Formats: sequence, structure tokens, C-alpha cells
Amino acid sequence: MPEHKRPSLTPPVRGAEPESYAHDALTAPIVQTATYTFRDTAALVAYMEGREEREEYGRYGNPTVRLLEDRVAMLEGAEDAVAFSSGMAAVTSAILALTKAGDHVVLFSDCYRRTRQFVTTFLGRFGVEHTLVPPADVAALEAALRPETKLVVSEAPTNPYLTVVDLPAVSALCRPRRIRTLIDATFATPINLNPVDHGIDLILHSATKYLSGHNDVLAGVIAGKAGLVSLIRDVRHMMGAVCDPHAAFLVLRGIKTLALRVAQHNISATAIAEALEGHPRIRRVWYPSLASHPSHTVATRLMRGFGGVVTFELDGDMAATSAFVDRLRIPRIAPSLGGVESLVEQPALMSYFELTTEAREAVGIKDSLVRYAVGIEEPDELIADLMQALGAVS
Ligand SMILES: Cc1ncc(COP(=O)(O)O)c(C=O)c1O
Repeated sequence: MPEHKRPSLTPPVRGAEPESYAHDALTAPIVQTATYTFRDTAALVAYMEGREEREEYGRYGNPTVRLLEDRVAMLEGAEDAVAFSSGMAAVTSAILALTKAGDHVVLFSDCYRRTRQFVTTFLGRFGVEHTLVPPADVAALEAALRPETKLVVSEAPTNPYLTVVDLPAVSALCRPRRIRTLIDATFATPINLNPVDHGIDLILHSATKYLSGHNDVLAGVIAGKAGLVSLIRDVRHMMGAVCDPHAAFLVLRGIKTLALRVAQHNISATAIAEALEGHPRIRRVWYPSLASHPSHTVATRLMRGFGGVVTFELDGDMAATSAFVDRLRIPRIAPSLGGVESLVEQPALMSYFELTTEAREAVGIKDSLVRYAVGIEEPDELIADLMQALGAVS
């Protein structure tokens, strides 16, 4: 594990909480209302003139959602945050908020398929051009920058190969050119990485994953500079992809144990990566703690831990890989990651199913690739399960 100081365990539990909640409740109430009432027209005018800070309508704000936003901002060391109905609502709203016709966006290519789809097939409709650059390739980023470039987007670590771009180098290229930087740090969590510390403007989380942590809610959050967050919040007001107050409550509840869960994800995934590397039925393992990982040095410099996803390639074809996945007894076959339950997927049969083997390989996804989202079950049992499944397909 890298030798960074671990963040305090207190903010995930208590961060940004008010002195008391209604009825002196211990936990944040779910304020389940679509709108808010005004005592009289004078109260309305006071609010309209900005003399009173309060809620007006559910699409513009909600106290439960606001607490989630404040807590994530605190965990990220950011000025402000805004929550959405899903991670993709956050991704699309942020990119739409920060670009206009004639602008250019650079995206590091190893990323969640829908983010890539939005940038490469959808943004063009609004006159926004894009360039895809290879993961973590800062020289390629520099070569891709144009006078019209307004935004650089990357995941850190990326999905599924866990590449970590040199964030200070990205910031050093973008800041002087007034190009905004957006890092999807879903795989890292604020426990393992704070991109703000490395000069990044905006940090995005699919809160569906580690922040909520229990595979039972969809949500997204973006944290960063107050002015930029405000632009993105404005887009949310128009597009309407608000975080539901009950979802915000579930994410807040999940965040209370985030540090504990992530500590276990880090330990278990490291042990699994080490157990898999060198196994005769495994061709290659991707996990940043391994010296063989292309981002090992950068990740060790920037991150406090590497999270719960281990990606590996079986020494076999599509059928052998499916047989291996089917033999696993603990992880369930499902998309997603970041929850207490281990999940496994063969991307060729999930996110990339509609592509041919050749088309998949063109985007770097082999038929024998497996993405293992390590939960918080007993690591020795997870490893024994992997070994029995590998033994069965030998
Ligand atoms: C890195 C990353 N970002 C964003 C998303 C989208 O999040 P959501 O499913 O909450 O819309 C995902 C989903 O898998 C993801 O893995």
C-alpha cells in the first residue's frame, strides 16, 4: 500500500452536518417534498431578492440532497458539489455545461463505454468536436490540444484497465490555457485520491458505486470550484436529472462507512491481484499495486490505495473464460462495482456484447477479459474461489 497519510475517519460520518436536524433526529431526515411553501408574499419577495436563503422547488434544491453535496465537497476538499440522478446524468450535464458549438473536448479513451459514446457520437450534434487520446498519454494530450479545446476528461483509475494519468501534468498543461479538467474518480473514491490536490478543477463520482456502496441506489455527484459547479447546477435545473432525496439519504448512509469499506477493498483487491499474477491460467493482471501495471509509479505517487477492481485476462478463449466465470461461487455476474458484494463480468458478453471479436479488440477488449469488482467478503475465501474456478477450467 502506498505510504500516504490516511484521511481522517470523521468527515465521512459527520462532515458538513448542521448543529441539529428537525426533531433533533440523529440522522439526516429525508425531506420528501416536491415544492416548498412561502408564509406570505413578503417571504417570497425576501427570497426572490436573495435576502433569505431557503429552498423553492424540488428541482432546484432539497436539504437531504444538499447535505450529500456538502459532504462530498468536504471529502474531496472542493468548494462545492452538485448531485444527480445517476453518474451518467452527472457526466452528460457537466460536459454540456462546459462546452458550446465550436469547442473541442479531449477524452482519454479507456473509460466507461457510455461516457465515450456520449463524447464520440452525441456531442457532435451540438457542434462540439472531440479527440480521443490513449490512456495516461500526456504527450498525446498535449498534441491534441487546440485553441478551441475547452475541456479535458479522464477517469482515474480508468475502467477497466485502472490506468492513472499523471494529474499534475494534465493540470500543468491545461491551467495556463484556461482548459477545464474533469476527472471521473469513481474507481478511486475520495478515500484513495483527491484530484483537487493535484490541480484538477472538477471531480465526478458515480455515487452508484463506492460512495453508496451497497448496490441499491443510482446517483452521481460532481465536486469542484464553486463557479464551475454553479454552471453545472444550472444545467441540472434545465435538464432535470435531480438526485431524489431518498437516494441522497442512501448515499449519505453509505458514505458513513466509505473509509472502512474502501480500506477493505484495497486490501482484498491487492491480495487477489497478487494471487492471480503468475498463475499459469492467467495471461495478464491489471491492478496498480503491481509493478507490472503501466501506471504503478504514477498511481503510487498520487493515490493512498487502488480500490476494489481487478481486471485480468484468462489464458483461453471466450468459452473458457465464460466457463471460468460460471464456476465462480462467490461473486455474482452483474454490471457495476463498488458495493459490498463482489461482482464479476466478462466485458465481451456485457458492455461490448454487440461488437464482433475484432471490433472489441479494436477498442482494447479481449474475449478473455474479466473485470472482478471485489466486495468486502473474506479475502481468503474470494481467492480460494478464484483458484477453484481456474483449476476447473485447466
Ligand atoms: C467510471 C464510471 N463513471 C460513470 C459511470 C456511470 O454511472 P451510473 O451508472 O451511476 O450512471 C460508470 C458506470 O459504470 C462508471 O463505471
